[in-house]
Amino acid sequence: MQKGEGTEKLLAMLGGDMVSTDAGLIERHCQDWHGDVTSSAIALLRPRSTEDVSRAVRACAELGFGVVPQGGRSGLALGAVPDGPASQVVLSLERMDRVRSLNTRDFTAVVEAGVVLETFKKEVAEAGLYFPLALGAQGTCQIGGNVSTNAGGVNVLRYGMTRELVLGLEVVLPDGLVLDLISRLRKDNRGIDLKQLFIGAEGVLGIVTAVSFKLMPAPDQTATALLALDSLEDAIELYRLARLKCCDLMSAFEFMPAEAFQLAREGIPDLTLPLEPAHRAYALVEMSGSGLVDIESLLAQFLELAMDEGLVRDGVVAQSKAQARNIWLVREGMNEGQARRGKHLRTDLSVPLSELAAFVAEAEAAVAEVLPGAVCVSYGHVGDGNVHLNVLPDPEGAEELDRQIYRAKTVLNEVLGRYDGSISAEHGVGRLKKADFAARASSVQRDLLERIKRAIDPNLTMNPGCLLDLEG
Ligand code: FAD
Ligand code: LAC
Ligand code: ZN
Repeated sequence: MQKGEGTEKLLAMLGGDMVSTDAGLIERHCQDWHGDVTSSAIALLRPRSTEDVSRAVRACAELGFGVVPQGGRSGLALGAVPDGPASQVVLSLERMDRVRSLNTRDFTAVVEAGVVLETFKKEVAEAGLYFPLALGAQGTCQIGGNVSTNAGGVNVLRYGMTRELVLGLEVVLPDGLVLDLISRLRKDNRGIDLKQLFIGAEGVLGIVTAVSFKLMPAPDQTATALLALDSLEDAIELYRLARLKCCDLMSAFEFMPAEAFQLAREGIPDLTLPLEPAHRAYALVEMSGSGLVDIESLLAQFLELAMDEGLVRDGVVAQSKAQARNIWLVREGMNEGQARRGKHLRTDLSVPLSELAAFVAEAEAAVAEVLPGAVCVSYGHVGDGNVHLNVLPDPEGAEELDRQIYRAKTVLNEVLGRYDGSISAEHGVGRLKKADFAARASSVQRDLLERIKRAIDPNLTMNPGCLLDLEG
């Protein structure tokens, strides 16, 4: 079917409010966050309700179109951008943006998939509670995307990945049926927990339309410090100390190299740097809590201990919310800064925590050997053993950028293999990493995944080309 003909049929079946034919809008919805990849689609569908999603999915199934579910397009694995323009439509959840209910006595909320994470966090805060999922893209990403990627972020060490916050889901299945698993129950062991199938499934089994979440008490005290250290080894030792001495009151422990400051400045030009970047490694440590605890004194005592151990070279403790925010902007601005440098290798690797420093040293050395002019930027979530070991290729290098990126990825994956690590700790597989994923999965694992996919989506219409490459 020709593209124009497909759009006409969708318009006739679903109406002009749901089906957008605005070329500029469709183009924006076919671009990834970095702008590295642009594709096209038959149409953009923007349902307003679960019923609309169901109708849209049924219409696409009838016409034989693939459906690419889309949230805020901040996913870094190309899961939400179509790759088969002749036969795929983008279904954006952005108009399903209501918090359906918030129950401060149950500590739960039911929220539609298109609500932007930051908006949800604010609404929960206004009700005096806390939703702990936190990531640099929170002003852009949506709840449905967070659930479908099982997003991680900076508070995982205390609150877990998105999966641990989900109580229930509402999902439109590939045949248009609505699976209603919304629940406010904390405990429910009635057999196999079906919602788990859809969390982290990257839209290949159905479309998440609503989610019920656990909420937490809001921390009424937060203490934030940025510490200069000699090495990543010391950062890991410092984390161990914090884990043992501050137990569950530590809410974030991020690490970054000195290059972070320059990159953050490139991402956020008017940023005031909280420290001079004179050391090899930096740790961003945050403690938080509510009620009868003294968080400021906890951080102060911890820092004293860390200095006695000789782990900290320099540092700054935020004296206000604005200063704390400023410290966080160094960490968050790094991503924007790297994006502005152009095409580069972004990774999302994890290894056992005790091996993180050795892994990063070996991996950076391996990249330097094959690409002497490239810059490695290693940063991430210490407590989760999760490093974004990104490689900025040498623009003056003998090889073109794509070739350098490929070479860097190949050596990194080789080193990672020796550490039994993961090629995707928190961003998912998408279209970007599916070959690397398939190459590392066992045949039993691949076969089971294929059987699950075919059982739920026999016509393979749900996010085709994402995660798995299957033919009908
Ligand atoms: P999208 O990119 O739109 O989609 C992601 C995947 O989910 C796609 O496969 C899509 O098809 C599917 N999908 C989306 N909505 C639905 C739905 N309703 N139903 C079914 N499938 C759906 N990630 C982390 O884990 N931790 C971080 O710290 C982190 N920091 C980031 C910082 C920056 C600056 C950026 C740009 C990204 C970061 N990310 C991080 C990645 C990204 O923000 C997360 O993966 C996020 O969860 C994606 O949400 P989204 O709404 O943008 O999803
Ligand atoms: C971060 C993203 C890239 O941690 O996951 O900044
Ligand atoms: Zn991350």
